[in-house]
Amino acid sequence: MRVLSGTKPTGDQLHLGNYFGALRQFVALQEKYEDALYFIADYHSMTSVRDAATRRRNAFNVALDYLAAGLDPDRAILFRQSDIPEVCELTWLLTSITPMGMLERAHAYKAAMDRGESVDHGLFTYPVLMAADILLYRADLVPVGQDQKQHIEMARDMAQRFNNTYGSEALVLPEPYILRDAATIPGTDGQKMSKSYDNTIAMFAPKKQLKKSVMGIVTDSTPVEEPKDPAGALFELWRLFATPEEHREMAERARAGGLGYGEVKKDLLARLLDHFGPMRERRASFEERPDDVEDILRRGAQRARAIGAPVLEACRAAAGLGAPT
Ligand code: TYM
Repeated sequence: MRVLSGTKPTGDQLHLGNYFGALRQFVALQEKYEDALYFIADYHSMTSVRDAATRRRNAFNVALDYLAAGLDPDRAILFRQSDIPEVCELTWLLTSITPMGMLERAHAYKAAMDRGESVDHGLFTYPVLMAADILLYRADLVPVGQDQKQHIEMARDMAQRFNNTYGSEALVLPEPYILRDAATIPGTDGQKMSKSYDNTIAMFAPKKQLKKSVMGIVTDSTPVEEPKDPAGALFELWRLFATPEEHREMAERARAGGLGYGEVKKDLLARLLDHFGPMRERRASFEERPDDVEDILRRGAQRARAIGAPVLEACRAAAGLGAPT
């Protein structure tokens, strides 16, 4: 069983949606399966980040977040997507068996169109590059948040079409791995947590900034003494840091009345700092050793290429590309 996933480097650090929706599962699955690949999707970032220095810095930051969260380069293969340009060739091979209609139904593309944004070809074809990411390494299981499910279904579809068209078995159909309780982490305004909604809580923000984010979580104006529905963004976020037993108690207290949102926010902040404290230290120590981080990525790229290159070769041969063998 081979596990694979990626993260787009689009900012200074990952947020709670990335962590609980995906990264935490990356760490758990590296323990469970011998074969795990996690990469920094810097080719994907090209549809939104247009500056070289920013891309490099963001990519380094994702590497730090991966290592801080506990990804172990001796267990999992950690690499930068663009160190394996073979993925771009596989993208082309897949492009030519992908119907326009499939890409026109992609959520990200449709949302950009609905917002009236000018959409470039990179954004339109994003799901094909993402399929190539997964299929190049014959991944079986792809841990992601709910927002990526459609992309994985498309990758399955493309794998099947390619295999059928060329009578090949080179590509494996992947399965998404989505934890029900962490499929969509809400942001401070109750919508899905996402940088594009400006509602994120960063994993490693300075304490002052974290406090501001947590205190800014939107709640209703029910007075302290009134009963409250233990749902909504605040309770959902708090729950991520609590045991089921603690959650049951908190829900009872909320329904009984007398529990103020302020108290829940304070407790959430304390739990957040506590949970990410050791990771914050690990991150700082890697940040001081950029050469070591680069070594890890270089070694990861070598291992990833050893898996991916023969798969691309098999696809080329099946499609009759290159010199006959
Ligand atoms: P990205 O970089 O937007 O997000 C990284 C991971 O975090 C998850 N996530 C969330 N999960 C739950 N709730 C949220 N609010 C939330 N926000 C983000 C995402 O679902 C994702 O798993 N296209 C991908 C990157 C990618 C990829 C791949 C993933 C490129 N190639 C191949 C898997 C396999 C993306 O932009 O994720």
